[in-house]
Amino acid sequence: MRVRGTVQVPGDKSLSHRALIFGALGTGTSRVRGILESADVQATAECLRAMGVEIPALRDDIAFAGRGLRGLRAPSAPLDAMNSGTTARLLAGVLAGHPMRATVVGDASLSRRPMRRVARPLMAMGATVELSSDGTLPMTITGGQLHSVDLVTDVASAQVKSAVLLAGLVGGVRVSVREPAKSRDHTERMLAALGSGVEVGESDAQVTLTPGDTLQPLDMDIPGDPSSAAFFAALAAAVPGSELLLPNVCLNPTRTGFLNTLERMGVEVTLEDRRVSGGEPVGTVRVRARGLLGRAVGGQMVPTMIDELPLLACLATLAEGETVIRDAHELRAKESDRIAAVVANLRALGADAEERPDGLRVMGNRGALHAGAVTTFGDHRLAMAFAVLGAAAGIDIAIDDRACVAVSYPGFWGDLAAVTQ
Ligand code: S3P
Repeated sequence: MRVRGTVQVPGDKSLSHRALIFGALGTGTSRVRGILESADVQATAECLRAMGVEIPALRDDIAFAGRGLRGLRAPSAPLDAMNSGTTARLLAGVLAGHPMRATVVGDASLSRRPMRRVARPLMAMGATVELSSDGTLPMTITGGQLHSVDLVTDVASAQVKSAVLLAGLVGGVRVSVREPAKSRDHTERMLAALGSGVEVGESDAQVTLTPGDTLQPLDMDIPGDPSSAAFFAALAAAVPGSELLLPNVCLNPTRTGFLNTLERMGVEVTLEDRRVSGGEPVGTVRVRARGLLGRAVGGQMVPTMIDELPLLACLATLAEGETVIRDAHELRAKESDRIAAVVANLRALGADAEERPDGLRVMGNRGALHAGAVTTFGDHRLAMAFAVLGAAAGIDIAIDDRACVAVSYPGFWGDLAAVTQ
């Protein structure tokens, strides 16, 4: 088998959540084309509808009226973020600035994920945030009069940073956030595009928001999701003789760590038709297989490819030599414990993989891999990473939950079948 052709991956998940939230807070009618129609984004849309925003059914081109910066209505029932950490944490910021009380709940996976990281800064701003005794959902927020904060975080998290920026925006107070490494900056870019005063510090990992009284409506084309494109880039990279085109992908530098790593592994990656759309760099990614060498990943690179690290670990089994992932403790706080889950699954397929507290180590050995079964823990990225490994290595991998890809990439199985037939 060779992988050939073109895959247009669906809209970026991070941008889709933010487009709905910023549209809801704007004054006037926002228009969004290319929004991701997935379960996570549906969760955000449903929560906003429950607070009075009339968002139509998600499709390629939607328009809806914002309610202004403090115009959301108190929901009559808990807001269900389902599987989506971005929904829960970004909405926490929005709620903190509204003088009302609301509760956020989620599914079993989201209900295990840490929420103190977002509760603490919002409380420091003056909101009341109640969590379960182990710091997880349900989260009840009583918002109102906020004050300014200068926050220094100990983990690079765009969700935490965005929650604070949104609280500052809605609460009308200046906020500043400094992270240990720069996380994805879509919120900052969108705020700046909509007329809010955003300043990025010299260190790049610091941002200050001086909010205005209103937010302009949004008019945006959402580019393809680089985290979805990564699955196909990896597949093409791992199958000799392959060449694949991925048009209209978001190439924001805070999201391109995986493509950079593929290049460092010896893969030919070219970026074509580069342009800026909706404040985000966008382009076509061309991937040509050229052998594959194991590499080390750590430090500042980690946030730029955080969601692609399970995929990198799978790809590493097909590379020559060792791949080590460091400084990635955050993987344990995602939709599953992605360090433990990836290593256990790789070992079940015959791979030489070892867990580390902050990452993992894989020694490539294509020949040792054999058919087997994988447990996803309902984690969409694990399902897709192991599907790619199965296709690339030509082994049968039984995936316990194929439906969970609906969280970020509902058309994944169809797109995979189209390029591997
Ligand atoms: C996201 C931020 C990242 C990422 C998630 C989406 C966002 O999470 O893993 O898939 O849209 O802000 P963290 O902020 O927890 O690192």
